[in-house]
Amino acid sequence: MTINKDVINQSYNSLKYIASNRSQREKAFAITDEFNEYLKNISGKCIDIGCGPGDVTKDIILPALDPNAIVIGTDISENMIDFAKKTYIKEKRLEFDVLDIQTKNLPTKYVSEFDLVLSFHALHWCNDIKQAFENIYRMLRPNGIMLDVNKYTWPLRNSINPRKQLKELLQTLGFTVIHCSHRDTFHQDSNTDRFFSSIMAFLDFIDHMPRDHKEEFKKEFTHKFAETQIIYKQKNNQKIALDTYRILIAFAQKHVT
Ligand SMILES: C[S@@+](CC[C@H](N)C(=O)[O-])C[C@H]1O[C@@H](n2cnc3c(N)ncnc32)[C@H](O)[C@@H]1O
Repeated sequence: MTINKDVINQSYNSLKYIASNRSQREKAFAITDEFNEYLKNISGKCIDIGCGPGDVTKDIILPALDPNAIVIGTDISENMIDFAKKTYIKEKRLEFDVLDIQTKNLPTKYVSEFDLVLSFHALHWCNDIKQAFENIYRMLRPNGIMLDVNKYTWPLRNSINPRKQLKELLQTLGFTVIHCSHRDTFHQDSNTDRFFSSIMAFLDFIDHMPRDHKEEFKKEFTHKFAETQIIYKQKNNQKIALDTYRILIAFAQKHVT
């Protein structure tokens, strides 16, 4: 009984995310397009960190690379990875594996293995951002490239200049930083709840909260989120939600000695 409930929950969260991640897909597409010159020539082994249910990995990352490239999608969530494995079982150039990018014991199978490390909308969940980038550095082969799009910049939220701080951190770890920017961006949608739903879809910890805490958390989170959203009406009276936020983009190469 419990197992069945978990399986339903697992697919439910993955499907809920896929149904609401239009903004994340648009941004991932825009960034791969911006770095197309580099990405289209990468024909080796690549890894996507925090791939979620795998739709961005399959639909946006894979087509941006050379047709010989293979991609391993990884995520801390077993549920997301189980879903991705089942959904993309027929994709010959795709694999999926569970990995916490903040681990202090990076499995040897990941060390010096990759020509490209990508991460979209995931590293802001890491409290230990230094450990995450240390692992990414170790994962790369010499000359390997990293592309990270960090949506809410939570690990650097108190920084006066997150772009400078991230750039310095990457340089300290040995990366040559090719590009690092901190940008205002936005998402407009006639479905005013979609962006909020995409965030709620992978807040797994809510499922483990006592019922009253869960309700309190949802209420407060909904309220805080609504404060950041601008709702306006078009001429035809249709409501549009405007979500604005900032993203940090880093594109860096493993230093060659
Ligand atoms: C917003 S989803 C992004 C999914 C996909 N990359 C996209 O752009 O649509 C963030 C993902 O990061 C994963 N994540 C959070 N912390 C992580 C960690 N420490 N290591 C690996 N993945 C992590 C979450 O489980 C979630 O699936």
